Amino acid sequence: MTADLFSQGRLHLFNYNVASLITTPLLVFFSISFPGNCAMSSSRCRRLEGKVAIVTAATKGIGLAIAERLLDEGASVVIGSRNQKNVDEAIKELHSKGLKNVAGLAGHIAKPEDQKKLVDFTLQKFGKIDILVNNHGINPAFGHILEVQDEVWDKLFEVNVKAGFQMSKLVHPHLIKQGGGSIIFNASYGGYKSPPGIAAYGVTKTALIGLTKAMANGLSKDNIRVNGIAPGVIKTKMSRALWDHEDGEKNVSEGQEIQLGRLGVPEECAGAVAFLVSEDASYITGEMIVIAGGVHARL
Ligand SMILES: NC(=O)c1ccc[n+]([C@@H]2O[C@H](COP(=O)([O-])OP(=O)(O)OC[C@H]3O[C@@H](n4cnc5c(N)ncnc54)[C@H](OP(=O)(O)O)[C@@H]3O)[C@@H](O)[C@H]2O)c1
Repeated sequence: MTADLFSQGRLHLFNYNVASLITTPLLVFFSISFPGNCAMSSSRCRRLEGKVAIVTAATKGIGLAIAERLLDEGASVVIGSRNQKNVDEAIKELHSKGLKNVAGLAGHIAKPEDQKKLVDFTLQKFGKIDILVNNHGINPAFGHILEVQDEVWDKLFEVNVKAGFQMSKLVHPHLIKQGGGSIIFNASYGGYKSPPGIAAYGVTKTALIGLTKAMANGLSKDNIRVNGIAPGVIKTKMSRALWDHEDGEKNVSEGQEIQLGRLGVPEECAGAVAFLVSEDASYITGEMIVIAGGVHARL
């Protein structure tokens, strides 16, 4: 009889119904008792109520999705990017979604004076800083690693590595004032795999994996957790040349051996960042989450 029910799938259904009778009141109880927690994966949870975050390079793509997700979870967010028009448009878009606790400032993330302005602006607007998301990253060159011009190499390291290091130094005393906080680096699966054509970019992302570890060790005494994400190919302007043509997505997916058979979208990075900066990740530091649809990417 039991075997019959299993084979018909009815026992699963029965168990599910009984289980939900028990678990639903428990979930309600836990979400009322511990409002900071998020019982299940949903952008509706409010794990970041009262927190203030800076997200760099956040007027498009992954950065904008991260800003949106942190706002949606209750944080106040400052976004930056080079172009004031892009900042204004991003804020308008977020406002249109009912996300009001956002402000932004134009500036180049690798310029120390602009970094300082971004931090000062955040303090003026929201009075403190709990979270820094170093999302910025550029890839100006495509070609063989030894054909990369010295100036391009320097620029890659200046923006992709040094700017996040400098931003972290600027934000560090303000995180300490809050009794701790969270720093995120946006690396790439390219930091593990050295994809052909963008190997120099990949080396900067490998450096970010090292920087994440080093900073996690150095800042743990201040109750500051430092983690990162390593996205695969995510559909944004930056990766558009790879996939925005006939069979592009299919070719990338097969070429990179993406097990899920598709490219990622920015929201799939944003959810991981929201988790890492929340109390749900309170015992996680020095880690990278690879978000690459199952691409094998390890050092
Ligand atoms: N897309 C992918 O497949 C992928 C994969 C792995 C990792 N990543 C990483 O994810 C991060 C975001 O990439 P994305 O794909 O979301 O790019 P995107 O859609 O092209 O957006 C780039 C953002 O960065 C801003 N920006 C560019 N240069 C800047 C600078 N010097 N200072 C301040 N802001 C700057 C841009 O705005 P302005 O033009 O106004 O400055 C824009 O808001 C990067 O670190 C990238 O390496 C991306």
